[in-house]
Amino acid sequence: MSTVHSSLHRTGAGAVAVLTIDNPPVNAMSMAVRIDLLAAVWDAADNAQVQALVLIGAGGKFIPGADIREFGKPQGAGPVISGREVIAALESCPKPVIAALGVHALGGGLEIALGCHFRVATSDCKLGLPEVSIGLLPGAGGTQRLPRLVGPARALELITSGKPMTAADAQDSGVVDELVDGPLLEGALAFAQRVLTKARPLQRVSERNQRLAGTDAALFTEFRAKHAKKWRGQIAPQRIVDCIEAACTKPFAEAYAFELAAFDECKASAQRAALIHAFQAEREAARIPGLSADVQPQPIRSAAVIGAGTMGGGIAMCFANAGLPVWLLDANPESLARGRALIEKNYATSVARGSLSQAQVDRALALITGTLEYAAIGDADIVVEAAFEDLVVKKHVFQQLDAVMKPSAVLATNTSTLDIDKIANATARPAQVIGAHFFSPANVMKLLEVVRGAATSPQVIVTTMALAKTIGKTAVLSGNADGFIGNRILAVYGRECDFLLEEGATPWQVDRALQGFGFPMGLYLMRDMAGLDVGWRIRQYREQFRDKALRYSPIADRLCERGRFGQKTGAGYYRYTGRDGSPDADVERLIEEVSREMKITRRAVSDDEIVSRVLSAMANEGLKIVGEGIALREGDIDAAYVHGYGFPRHQGGPMYWAAQQGWDIIHDTVTRLHAAQGALWAPAPRLAALAEQDRQTRALIPA
Ligand code: 3HC
Repeated sequence: MSTVHSSLHRTGAGAVAVLTIDNPPVNAMSMAVRIDLLAAVWDAADNAQVQALVLIGAGGKFIPGADIREFGKPQGAGPVISGREVIAALESCPKPVIAALGVHALGGGLEIALGCHFRVATSDCKLGLPEVSIGLLPGAGGTQRLPRLVGPARALELITSGKPMTAADAQDSGVVDELVDGPLLEGALAFAQRVLTKARPLQRVSERNQRLAGTDAALFTEFRAKHAKKWRGQIAPQRIVDCIEAACTKPFAEAYAFELAAFDECKASAQRAALIHAFQAEREAARIPGLSADVQPQPIRSAAVIGAGTMGGGIAMCFANAGLPVWLLDANPESLARGRALIEKNYATSVARGSLSQAQVDRALALITGTLEYAAIGDADIVVEAAFEDLVVKKHVFQQLDAVMKPSAVLATNTSTLDIDKIANATARPAQVIGAHFFSPANVMKLLEVVRGAATSPQVIVTTMALAKTIGKTAVLSGNADGFIGNRILAVYGRECDFLLEEGATPWQVDRALQGFGFPMGLYLMRDMAGLDVGWRIRQYREQFRDKALRYSPIADRLCERGRFGQKTGAGYYRYTGRDGSPDADVERLIEEVSREMKITRRAVSDDEIVSRVLSAMANEGLKIVGEGIALREGDIDAAYVHGYGFPRHQGGPMYWAAQQGWDIIHDTVTRLHAAQGALWAPAPRLAALAEQDRQTRALIPA
């Protein structure tokens, strides 16, 4: 069956062929769509009855880009048609071609639209070139045509960030000719009729060079310099700048060929494969196997947050940003006022940075209502408790929630360390209780770790997972176990870095190696920023339970004993002037002292060893977490790490990284360290089998 349906519509000015792209669920531009669309365009161009063409997507959605699932797969035996061939047919069509854009026109979809002579859009349509987020660049003329409409400076921002434009913005920037108020097809046909009546000349974007002329070369030099740190090690954003620069310095045909070569380079890169894995893992994480189809999320129309501290305020912002009214409850008026002031300050920063407009902030602030009374929040569909991290405090909060909340309300706790079941059992409705672990700053970090307790009902789980999507988070479901998914792996990550310090590395070397791998910040800079005292207090409390037979690094404790709590005390692993940390000889001496005490002969540790050892430990722990049923699948661990812990998305995640190395290599590292270090490195039960599989695959690859 064809993925493109053609129909003929009479207007007062002549017949219009409507080509409807129909490829559920989102109308992705697969090879089949390209083949069918090209044939339909040729047919309409050749059909003497047809005066104009309208391209539209089924279900009101235009095209979100090429079909991501086809990248990296071998080409089938059938015909091969590129997006460029379809666009060439559209742009050179002698009859006016109008793209009718609804919901999304992204990536190759926007490129198709830019190949048409005119564009109309619904006001809710999002238009953009998000290829960079999957390690690609727009390879069908996006880097060449968009700058011709919005100018090179704006195109640089749009294409390197991948952020979409609103339809209104697209109209102001000249990307869209007209916004359609009523049904999209009717609006597009009326527009086509006007084009025909007025005999409007066909607008070929590739021929419009005015906005490129006289572009200052400094634009590109400065843009590259501004983003150098952020893009370290990433191919696609750098190539995008090269392509837009080429658009300004070379004739269209030459720059278009340049774009194709750059696209092919990105397409062949390991980063593209890793980023598409991340894209798919993020979506897969939302699926919970084994639930009956009639378990559907219940609607969330209002929320409440308990605790107006940094975390509670950030969570309230998440709801308000998504347009949901939210109560912010705190026990005392001063805390509430402080919380509100902090929220306002955070919003002011967003406005200053340009990430939100003042109007958006005003709307969000109007949705947040402070209260001191539990009685006020009883009708909220969900309540997220973000009180002090103490079981007694949390149980008390949940008893009060139990007394006031309506029966269907989801009762969520933002605990990062406590047992969800103990909290749930403080209520008479444990089935309604769930963990919703946000990451700081909650309004920024994309991860939501959803923790199911023993009694949590499936409906509460799917409701919380669906809510995550509404508030723009990537949800990962975790079992109720110490550290859940993320912090359990973080403990292993920190432990190995600390051991490497004892064996010969320095904090700045570990950080350099991790940043070289792609982490935005090394572990020790991150710890210094977060403050070392909180972890110290937790370790002091846990000391009584610690297994003294296992290796333990006292370096962090020693720093705290000397009052070095990180940035806030001017010294931690680094010494600080303001926020800038510099290496400190005192810390090096402290570490050497610990090595001596531990009878470890310090040795040279390479950056590669740091990366390999730390990531192998994370992957081994990840396998255990999946094996114990705490995480549903390895991809969930990747999604959690990318969105909650700064793991470089272009490396796919710790589990993806390990699979790319080959589990046989990870197995060798783990078993070697297990022999040398003992139980902390016990191999995950599945590791040997995975290693054997990879060993066999490797044996089949010719040397
Ligand atoms: N190809 C294949 N499948 C796609 C897809 C695509 N481009 N975009 C989305 N899907 C699939 C998703 O995987 C998901 O499948 P699932 O239900 O099996 O998990 C389903 O469509 C729904 O997607 P979402 O859950 O993300 O639904 P939303 O409504 O939240 O978002 C979207 C829809 C805005 C289209 C979002 O999915 C998205 O951003 N997609 C990717 C857009 C993109 O990166 N486009 C560029 C592609 S590369 C390209 O065009 C190259 C060209 O320049 C040559």
